Amino acid sequence: MPIEQPLPIPDFLYGTAWKEERTAALAELAICTGFRGIDTANQRRHYFEAGVGEGLAAAYRAGVVMRADLFLQTKFTYQRGQDHRLPYDPSASLAAQVAQSLANSLEHLGTDHVDSFVLHGPSSGHDWTDADAEVWEAMRKERDAGRTRLLGVSNVSMRHLEQMEAAHSEHPAFVQNRCFARLGWDREVRSFCSERKIRYQGFSLLTANPEVLRHPPLIKLATSLKATPAQIVFSFARAVGILPLTGTSKADHMKQDLASGSMKLPPDVVLAIESMAG
Ligand SMILES: NC(=O)c1ccc[n+]([C@@H]2O[C@H](COP(=O)([O-])OP(=O)(O)OC[C@H]3O[C@@H](n4cnc5c(N)ncnc54)[C@H](OP(=O)(O)O)[C@@H]3O)[C@@H](O)[C@H]2O)c1
Repeated sequence: MPIEQPLPIPDFLYGTAWKEERTAALAELAICTGFRGIDTANQRRHYFEAGVGEGLAAAYRAGVVMRADLFLQTKFTYQRGQDHRLPYDPSASLAAQVAQSLANSLEHLGTDHVDSFVLHGPSSGHDWTDADAEVWEAMRKERDAGRTRLLGVSNVSMRHLEQMEAAHSEHPAFVQNRCFARLGWDREVRSFCSERKIRYQGFSLLTANPEVLRHPPLIKLATSLKATPAQIVFSFARAVGILPLTGTSKADHMKQDLASGSMKLPPDVVLAIESMAG
């Protein structure tokens, strides 16, 4: 029997937030267009995870991909970030909530494991709390039981990461953060991550940075490369080690976003964009 190799992490993730009844069709379209990484969350308020599962099933049925071709990422969200449609019993311990949430995600996604399981956000905007420590240890147990390959944290500050590092013996495999150009594209957190071989995932690369997309030199560069400003941003992101997410609902944007993977920006351009706004 050949030993199953872990799937390499794709260099683009398709995000499934805010798509409601279009979730299944868009997840399927993203896979058919070439995305192999899917980001979701068991947070019905912003994501329709069961719809993602329907999209995956449709892609499997059509013979486009098999489960083993995909990198599936979901999240555990505290009750505070949810509406009334909870994927766990809120009176259960946090550790039990983590287990229930992931079990429900696996049902939604029609799989026995995900590739990455992410804490959607710490319980406090300020500190890594005892609650976060309990949740993280429960997530590690899920990983050790084979229900996820890798673990991550999202919406974290340097302070969260430093406190997390002091409290636990293991780093996350991923940090997923909103990436503001005016903060040097989350420079400090990215540098913390790269020193520890944590893969940094960036979201809202376009929506958090409208001033970058309107920046005349960036538009000029895009025109000269026959690319769009969005493609320049995604290409830049990859050049500085960011694993980008896109949640586009348009087929042509999906194609453009994937095509940005083969664009190479000169180092001076990368540096200029990195320091453009902060
Ligand atoms: N961890 C968290 O707390 C968190 C928070 C937010 C998001 N996320 C994840 O990140 C994913 C992406 O979210 P996002 O905040 O980055 O926003 P997004 O959903 O990717 O939105 C991007 C916006 O830019 C537009 N756009 C224009 N040109 C585009 C192009 N070439 N490619 C892509 N978009 C283009 C899109 O419009 P069109 O649809 O018309 O293309 C869309 O309105 C989410 O789906 C979710 O999975 C995670």
